[in-house]
Amino acid sequence: MDGLKRQAAARALQQVQGGMTLGLGTGSTAQHFVELLGEKVRSGLKIIGVPTSEATRAQAERCGIALTTLDEVDRLDLTVDGADEINPALDLIKGGGGALLREKIVAAASDRMIVIADDSKCVDVLGRFPLPVEVVPFGFAATRAAMARAFAQSGVSGQMGVRKGKDGHVFVTDGGHWIVDAHLGRIPDPPGLAGLLSVIPGVVEHGLFIGLAGTAVLAGSQGIRVVERR
Ligand code: A5P
Repeated sequence: MDGLKRQAAARALQQVQGGMTLGLGTGSTAQHFVELLGEKVRSGLKIIGVPTSEATRAQAERCGIALTTLDEVDRLDLTVDGADEINPALDLIKGGGGALLREKIVAAASDRMIVIADDSKCVDVLGRFPLPVEVVPFGFAATRAAMARAFAQSGVSGQMGVRKGKDGHVFVTDGGHWIVDAHLGRIPDPPGLAGLLSVIPGVVEHGLFIGLAGTAVLAGSQGIRVVERR
């Protein structure tokens, strides 16, 4: 699986040209991309990166990649990031690594997003992977109830759990928020559910990435498939 992730990362790297400003994703697949990008930088490629998490920032710095922020620049040429699930419309579930808020801000500020993955991430219908929803701790019970109503309105239901870290304590995101993982099984209308979740005041952001990825680079045992959003 790791080999496939690296192959997808290497293929996406072919789209990178000197002078670009790049969004750098988070997670094990994006880590391969950052590592390979670092090799290119050390051989002379001039790019500048915007990391989507503190973890990616630390890795990029170790790799010698020059970094900036979305305070210094307001548009990026390209973001390359992984995903937890990808449907045929290239709608995504992201946030398994807890970085969905910065990932979405960076992707939305980019002219183009390439999602890289091994092909086990491809599904016909999103939702087998629990949907991460980033919430403000204040008023959590009310937010959770509003989320349940949004799910019901969208015709889905399932267990919701506050994510815990490896230490057993509540996982806190880079932005100081919590993540609720919603085990929905099937999300037949991702754009509809995205709209319902977005208007809940205590929801900071959700892991449905709708219309952001333009290209998916999917590595499988039969080779690499590049899918463009129609
Ligand atoms: C991080 O918050 C996520 O959105 C990751 O992009 C996603 O979980 C994919 O991670 P892997 O590449 O480790 O599977």
